[in-house]
Amino acid sequence: MTGGTIAAMSQSLLESVTLGLAQRRLRAQLDTRRWRALTRRFPGVLASMEGMDLGPWVTPLWEGFNAKMLSAIEPVPPMRFLRESVIRRSMFVDVRGAWLQAQMELLTGHFGAEQLRELAAETPVGDPPLCDASLMTSHNTVHHLAHLARYEQHTGSQLAACSTVLEWGGGYGNLCRLMHRMSSELERYIIVDTPLFCALQWLYLSMTLGEDRVSLWTGNGDPPATGLVIVPVPAVPELDVNVDLLISTWALSECSPLAQDHVSGARDWFGAVRLLLAFQASNAQLPEAGRLDAIARNADCDVLPVGVIDDNFYAFR
Ligand SMILES: C[S@@+](CC[C@H](N)C(=O)[O-])C[C@H]1O[C@@H](n2cnc3c(N)ncnc32)[C@H](O)[C@@H]1O
Repeated sequence: MTGGTIAAMSQSLLESVTLGLAQRRLRAQLDTRRWRALTRRFPGVLASMEGMDLGPWVTPLWEGFNAKMLSAIEPVPPMRFLRESVIRRSMFVDVRGAWLQAQMELLTGHFGAEQLRELAAETPVGDPPLCDASLMTSHNTVHHLAHLARYEQHTGSQLAACSTVLEWGGGYGNLCRLMHRMSSELERYIIVDTPLFCALQWLYLSMTLGEDRVSLWTGNGDPPATGLVIVPVPAVPELDVNVDLLISTWALSECSPLAQDHVSGARDWFGAVRLLLAFQASNAQLPEAGRLDAIARNADCDVLPVGVIDDNFYAFR
């Protein structure tokens, strides 16, 4: 072994020990009493959406992910739910290396060191794997912030100026949490997703933003005019709202063509002037994903490569 190899090994050992200690510090921040109290209510939240028909909205891929996810989080989500393989496969980026480095450079340049430190700091909820002990952040949070930074850089506009947002397919709720960190002006933030992910978002966002701000709306009466409103996709035909910004990152592209056409055509993006979309080219698992390219261009979006992932694109308006 050369001196250089030994130095590199010691460096990587030091980094993994530092990250391990940071992860322990993060875990210690979790309010376990609140987590237990909220998870006790989780089965009731899920049951309130029982029997909703997902049929026309979802792709076979997401039917499969939902079935796997259900067995992973029943009767209640585990405290470290972000470590579940179905989440890691479908929505938690943790690639690190050159991908992470490029996004860190983008974020430092765009937000500056101080704001980045505030935005990037992870919450302990779900036990996200940290990738940076100094910023106490995960690659997925860096990845989500990179979408927001790219949008602002490309369009020259400030996301914080938007007061109403609809996010289609919000994962476990991380982008919504980050949007709330970025903007104190947010009046109403609506997330549409499958009932199972709606229940998970209810839990994650109640923990991170406060349960007083979070409501689940299943289609009866008017949706709440303020706060964070979570809507199961079968209730969308009843959802009569107009927003400033519509966000959908790797979600509309992962929905059925009926859902894609409903949002972009019948609902005209829920009146949104601004669009922040991310999507992949069609592939064997998602043969309709690439439809988003023509849909976005038709809506006067600029389509540009994501860069760190081949054959993946942003569409901004
Ligand atoms: C690949 S994940 C992306 C999550 C998040 N937007 C992100 O970029 O990390 C796809 C998201 O779309 C949601 N989804 C799948 N089918 C959907 C449908 N028919 N309607 C609404 N959301 C759907 C999934 O539950 C998940 O939240």
